[in-house]
Amino acid sequence: MIFYFSACGNSRFIAESIAQALDEQLVFIPEAEREGRFDYTLAEYERVGFVFPIYSWCPPQLVRDFVQKLKFTKAPNYVWMAVTCGDNGGVAEKVFAEQLAKIGSPLHADYCFVMPNTYVNMAGMSTDKPEKAKRKIARAQAHLPEVIQNIKACKSVTEMRRGIFPRFKTNVIGKSFHKWVSDEPFRSTDACISCGKCVNVCPLQNISLEDGRPKWHGNCTNCDACFHHCPKNAIQYGKASVGKGQYYFGKF
Ligand SMILES: Cc1cc2nc3c(=O)[nH]c(=O)nc-3n(C[C@H](O)[C@H](O)[C@H](O)COP(=O)(O)O)c2cc1C
Ligand code: SF4
Ligand code: SF4
Repeated sequence: MIFYFSACGNSRFIAESIAQALDEQLVFIPEAEREGRFDYTLAEYERVGFVFPIYSWCPPQLVRDFVQKLKFTKAPNYVWMAVTCGDNGGVAEKVFAEQLAKIGSPLHADYCFVMPNTYVNMAGMSTDKPEKAKRKIARAQAHLPEVIQNIKACKSVTEMRRGIFPRFKTNVIGKSFHKWVSDEPFRSTDACISCGKCVNVCPLQNISLEDGRPKWHGNCTNCDACFHHCPKNAIQYGKASVGKGQYYFGKF
């Protein structure tokens, strides 16, 4: 069984590739959360995996909240996580291991895929140039067979990319990131053609169209799926996202 979250498709690609190779069932975390599906029956020797993007050197808050509510009929044989990140994840696997420990579960392995960056809501944070994005995707694809083999063999692996000052970034900046998350700065420009794509891609169902324009409703994780998928680049996050370029998996 693989629980996953993805906004722009990087983590979905990783989760689907592993699920296909190992014949695992996929559960999309925001959907399971909405439907209150927290109790899962596990088969003998079943593995449990979690795939998600790194948000501010931590697992996204919505993933941590979901894990807190999970209940399994028996202890999983092997528990693994795989993250996608634009650059590095600090000590995110330690935060996730702490979260799992609260529901009595160990973490046996953490896998890491560096993929195109999606965060554009801050000065200095931008998407990768197409050539760099393509290189990252090619490397992630090349890394997949090894990860699949390791999961199959239930190996104990740690491959989180830490970056500099990893503990500070995760424990000080990362753990308070959710307090700064807000959809108030989101706006649409006159380029909007009322297509509804932003409504459909929001994993939290936080957007509706009113008078043909998107309206944000305050339940936002700042995943930027709405920004990246708009066919007219008509969504901006204040001034921070202007001119940053759009990306979603499959765009290049
Ligand atoms: C809110 C937010 C915070 C992010 N923080 C980090 C980070 O701390 N380190 C990093 O390397 N990438 C960071 N990223 C980039 C994503 O982890 C990366 O692009 C990921 O592959 C996106 O996955 P998805 O396409 O499945 O949504 C962040 C992205 C978002 C939207
Ligand atoms: S995706 Fe863009 S063009 Fe379509 S409704 Fe949303 S803001 Fe408007
Ligand atoms: S409103 Fe936009 S940024 Fe917020 S959760 Fe939905 S898609 Fe993500």
